[in-house]
Amino acid sequence: MNIPREFIELLLAKVDIVDLINTQVPLRKKSGSNYFARCPFHNEKSASFSVSQPKQFYYCFGCGAHGNAIDFIIQHERLSFPEAIETLARQVGMEVPHTSGSVKKDDSLPALYEIMTNVTHYYYEQMRKSQRAIGYLKNRGISGKIAKQFSLGYAPTGWSHVLDQFGKTEADKKKLLDTGLIIKKDDGGYYDRFRDRIMFPIHDYRGRIIGFGGRILDQGEPKYLNSPETPLFQKGHELYGLYQAIQINRKLDRVLVVEGYMDVVALFQHEITYAVATLGTATTSHHLQRLMRYTSEIVFCFDGDEAGRTAAWRALQVIFPLMQDNLQIRFLFLPDGEDPDSLIRKEGKPAFEKRLSSALSLSAFFFQILSRQSDLATIEGRARFAASALNYIKQVPAGILPEILVEELAKRARIDASELKNQVKKPEAATTDSFSLPASPQDSARPKLKAPMHMALGLLVQNPSLANLITEPLPRSTLPGHAFLGQLLEIIRQNPAISTASLVEQWKGQKEERFIASLVCWEHLIPETGIQKEFLGAVQQLTLLSMDEEINRLLAKAAQDPLTEEEKQELSQWIAKKKMLSV
Ligand code: UTP
Ligand code: MN
Repeated sequence: MNIPREFIELLLAKVDIVDLINTQVPLRKKSGSNYFARCPFHNEKSASFSVSQPKQFYYCFGCGAHGNAIDFIIQHERLSFPEAIETLARQVGMEVPHTSGSVKKDDSLPALYEIMTNVTHYYYEQMRKSQRAIGYLKNRGISGKIAKQFSLGYAPTGWSHVLDQFGKTEADKKKLLDTGLIIKKDDGGYYDRFRDRIMFPIHDYRGRIIGFGGRILDQGEPKYLNSPETPLFQKGHELYGLYQAIQINRKLDRVLVVEGYMDVVALFQHEITYAVATLGTATTSHHLQRLMRYTSEIVFCFDGDEAGRTAAWRALQVIFPLMQDNLQIRFLFLPDGEDPDSLIRKEGKPAFEKRLSSALSLSAFFFQILSRQSDLATIEGRARFAASALNYIKQVPAGILPEILVEELAKRARIDASELKNQVKKPEAATTDSFSLPASPQDSARPKLKAPMHMALGLLVQNPSLANLITEPLPRSTLPGHAFLGQLLEIIRQNPAISTASLVEQWKGQKEERFIASLVCWEHLIPETGIQKEFLGAVQQLTLLSMDEEINRLLAKAAQDPLTEEEKQELSQWIAKKKMLSV
């Protein structure tokens, strides 16, 4: 789905970043023009988190977190880009337009959500009226409180309860059809999809109901019937129970990924409130990326048999390319014949959590599986083992983890680690992931700049139109920041009306990104009327410094060899220019 650029600009223009952040993180104003708070993205005692109202931008001088209102929502609410846009748009009462790519026209979506909510209420009421349904849930150890928390319900026996209740007009029938709640017959009539089943509503991250799973009460096929893929519901993206987990826990230290609806609910009943289930599909990269926004530890639950190992190995293939150093992954293999539901009921929370903590780490599982495929007692076997392992390790993004895996591999294959490391080395990956949380403080990444350079860069970033004042090309120089200044001037010259925010965007994902972001929130304390003069002064000083460089270079040469005529001329020109500029 594409969101038009103009809409994003419009949205950003409507939102005030100070208001937005202030509702989440109380801001205080200090002497300058910026607002300050303790950073919500890292632990700190002082207030390094600054918000610039004129620039509609935040920057943390402690951890480097930065961005506009959208970035703030992404980082703070841990949402994806489209989700953040949607959230902001809702706050200011705008509708997000989507261009191409989307399946259905979006203006129909609110009505579909509404019908899902209404039907959920209906199923819930039916459950409360049905001794059979209540008895079933009781029998499985589910309390009324948990049933309510998950909005569990009951779809009664009969072919047209939902159809009759909610499909009175053709338009309503269409909505029921679009949400998969009814099915069309060949003769043109309709019937309810879910009949005589315990209903598990599936919520999205915002708590909207997007689908259902329905379990048969007795024996029968299929045991679980699920909503089909609809404009609201894509199986491979959603995780059952995630919404409830986020509601209950301010922070998710750990997420447990299980297979079944009942597993999630039963675990919740036993106060393990951080389990989610994939909806009858294998783990996808969508699942993983979503979870990574909420937690730094994920435990995957699998059956203890061979099928379980195969499923885990498949999950590992999805995980490797998305791995991050701060992410911990474990695999829990269950005892024969058990699932999390049966196990938690048998042994309770403490014993179950002990299993989670001692579950197999990603690397332990990785080497366990690989070493089963080769005979490590022979040289050939070890070579094969190493080659195969390297192929997988190469997929892990650069960081500490691949290093550790290589060291471990070297030990196991009895090969020199440095030899192996050369084989996994790859060009630096472009990590332009705007969804990840800010990296730890890394002040060495900040160039050491001379004061006039900092002044010139800072004022220029905050006031791009200052570039118009520079009519001559900058003289060459080795001063730190000089090349950066040249790039800035060039970009502004090409887009004379460019805003500070768009300027920062030009460096997204590059090593200068954090630095340029810091300049946006830099407090120069120069009054509005003095900015031009200050900027020109800084550029003049820089020019003098680069002239000094030229002069010193020629003088140093003269100390060794006599200068050529040309060089002598050049030297006197520089000296003359400098004199002119200094008066
Ligand atoms: P299981 O067959 O392991 O069932 O399916 P379960 O979760 O233990 O259910 P109970 O305890 O018998 O009630 C695991 C998951 O696979 C999907 C469902 O998402 C289910 O929760 N599934 C299973 C289906 O979609 N359809 C089915 O017919 C069976
Ligand atoms: Mn089960």
